[in-house]
Amino acid sequence: MKKTNHPPVEYSEYLQLDKILTAQKRLSLNTEQPAHDESLFIIIHQVYELWFKEILIELKSIIKILSQEYVLETQMYIVVNRMKRILEIQRILIQQIKVLETMTPLDFLEFRDLISPASGFQSAQFREIENRLGLSRGSRAKLNETSYETLLHPEERDKILDSENSPSLLFSLEKWLERNPFVYRNDFQFAQEYQKVALEGIDRDRKIVSVNSRLSDSEKKKELLKIEVIKKNIESLSSKEVYDQSKELHQRKMSYEATLGALFISIYDDYSINHLPHKLIIQLVELDESMTTWRYRHALLALRMIGQRIGTGGTSGYDYLRMTLEKHKVFQDLATLSTYLIPRIERPLLPQSLESDMGFRKSFL
Ligand code: HEM
Repeated sequence: MKKTNHPPVEYSEYLQLDKILTAQKRLSLNTEQPAHDESLFIIIHQVYELWFKEILIELKSIIKILSQEYVLETQMYIVVNRMKRILEIQRILIQQIKVLETMTPLDFLEFRDLISPASGFQSAQFREIENRLGLSRGSRAKLNETSYETLLHPEERDKILDSENSPSLLFSLEKWLERNPFVYRNDFQFAQEYQKVALEGIDRDRKIVSVNSRLSDSEKKKELLKIEVIKKNIESLSSKEVYDQSKELHQRKMSYEATLGALFISIYDDYSINHLPHKLIIQLVELDESMTTWRYRHALLALRMIGQRIGTGGTSGYDYLRMTLEKHKVFQDLATLSTYLIPRIERPLLPQSLESDMGFRKSFL
């Protein structure tokens, strides 16, 4: 970095600690019984909000990179590193709940009524994270008749609605996967070649179950039904029309082309050109898992602190929070890719022309 003439800066000045360290105003100080634990409650929420801010900075930069027409490998490296950063922050967010759990429900009751109707439900940054990840309005857990933004501070509402209408990570990922240049080619039709091999595997599985003398007739029937479901899943990849017809049934969010793009990366994950894209797919599955883990830990925290009471934000409390666990997942399509995987040894051989375009060279060492 070029050195420019700037006045020397002190630690506390640079970090603006005068603002941060004087921003903990306990409401219970104005009552007859100041609540000791209110400081912890305020600080932990502030720490969360700071980490939410950092997650948003990283998320927005990742979306920007993936939205480019061409994403160079050097930029994929940056994407994967920044995703790793988000995952590490999420790990801290989950662990941090334990610090708050050192407060007992009675400690909380000492100041709970004073903070109503404030609730994490009104965290604009949390909503922005959900929107930037790609959680759509229609997928959100139903909250009476009101929508989530009505409870936000009016000054924050427009910004959050804007984030809902901006390209999300899911959207930019989908467009990027759709551009996978190795899926549609004259020398190799991935969808068709894959189908052949995958359906042969299904036939084999069927035979194995049918001749298994250890299974009773009803157990065989159950196993064969499971295999039929997997077969239907694989068949749904045969064409865009079939895929689109079953999109609703399988609750898929990604397009046919993007799913094939992701499947190609996952099946040929050992080809060096796929290393970083495959890592990103795994990271996105982890991101969803971490969000779900945080949601679950937070729901348990709420149950422990307030039992079955309604939340200060006016939802049903624990029951509402439990509902978000499944409904608010964003990258489930990537997690369920495993349904379609085939063993490496059985995957269709790539023609040399394609291998060479993928930059694959045999090693002679
Ligand atoms: C004593 C501790 C806590 C309790 C009892 C609690 C309880 C609740 C409840 C009941 C809700 C549902 C909305 C409502 O009706 O209020 C909620 C939502 C929420 N809380 Fe907490 N919470 C606690 C701590 C935290 C902390 C430390 C954070 C960190 C930022 C947080 C963030 C959130 C967020 C983001 C939501 C919205 C979740 C969603 O809509 O999916 N909460 N909380």
